[in-house]
Amino acid sequence: MVTRMVELCRDSLTEEQLMEAAALLRAGELVAFPTETVYGLGGNALDPGASAKIYAAKGRPSDNPLIVHIADTAALPVLARDIPESAMLLAKRFWPGPMTLILKKQDIVPKETTGGLDTVAIRMPSDPIAAMLIRVSGLYIAAPSANASGRPSTTKAQHVYEDLNGRIPMILDGGSSAIGLESTIIDLTGEKPMILRPGYISIEDVKEILPDVLYDPAVLKRERNDTIVAKAPGMKYRHYAPKGELTIFEGALSDVVEAVRAHALEKVNQGCCVAILASEETKDSYEGYNVYSVGDREDEAGIAARLFDTLREFDRMGADYIFGECFNTEGVGQAVMNRLVKAAGYHIETV
Ligand code: TXA
Ligand code: MG
Repeated sequence: MVTRMVELCRDSLTEEQLMEAAALLRAGELVAFPTETVYGLGGNALDPGASAKIYAAKGRPSDNPLIVHIADTAALPVLARDIPESAMLLAKRFWPGPMTLILKKQDIVPKETTGGLDTVAIRMPSDPIAAMLIRVSGLYIAAPSANASGRPSTTKAQHVYEDLNGRIPMILDGGSSAIGLESTIIDLTGEKPMILRPGYISIEDVKEILPDVLYDPAVLKRERNDTIVAKAPGMKYRHYAPKGELTIFEGALSDVVEAVRAHALEKVNQGCCVAILASEETKDSYEGYNVYSVGDREDEAGIAARLFDTLREFDRMGADYIFGECFNTEGVGQAVMNRLVKAAGYHIETV
């Protein structure tokens, strides 16, 4: 299959420019499109055949459910039943935006889309291209992150091309995703609201609306041998991982820098290709190495926006070993560390 890249100019976006993509979606085909979080690999959420194509294109296990993207809250009762008051409050506050709600599903949503579950994940993206695509197609669009399963999520059309070229007919190129990390997932089907995946909307933000919200304990998992199982099926898989072996160091910053340098030197001396995941504050301490700064340590949102691109960069440069620093877990920092420790396969060393 030939994959067409369609470049869109955000300043002069028209519905006509999305007609072809919408027609592909209506015909049961897949289209990758930008959202404010990461790029999504879209298909008709109510068409089991389209969902099957999504799993096949990504090489994703079919028990890992997809998020259904909507453009209007009127879609909520169509897709979900027994919708609690808390869902409406969260929707009012955070939609359109980087928040996904888990609700009980209506029969109209096929099990192929929900990975066999009785619940459905729903999100209303704020990205104007995503919103317009949903409207123009007249569909609800099922879309996982548009990466090959296990690889870092895609924050640029070029990343999607790297992973899915030849597997899907079209990629809409809308530039870099503004947030760069996937949405915050909140499960509203249990006794208490629970964050299954941290994202740009932090637990503190959610607490303003739902004071009793909790993290799924798996979110805070740091130990590789911990037997905790994540409630979101997709959070239990090896994910975001670069091909090289990534180790993260935790501790006082000066000790971390020293440990990173020592490990890097050891591997360079063995003839390995080594990369260092650093910050603006520390990058100069690693002179002579392949250093990638993800930004200012105080700027968690900036780090979030650059993280996946940087993880992909390690593959492009062929790193065998990557040594990295830990970051703050304030605000979106919790989501950054969640992705980073998973990318490292829970290889965290305290120094
Ligand atoms: O920001 C995002 O959420 C992006 C953009 C494209 O919207 N999408 C995304 O989709 O990250 P994906 O498929 O890569 O991640 C969806 C996560 C998976 O971990 C999946 O297991 C979980 O959501 N999930 C989906 N439906 C669920 C459900 N009914 N119950 C529990 N977890 C669910
Ligand atoms: Mg994903």
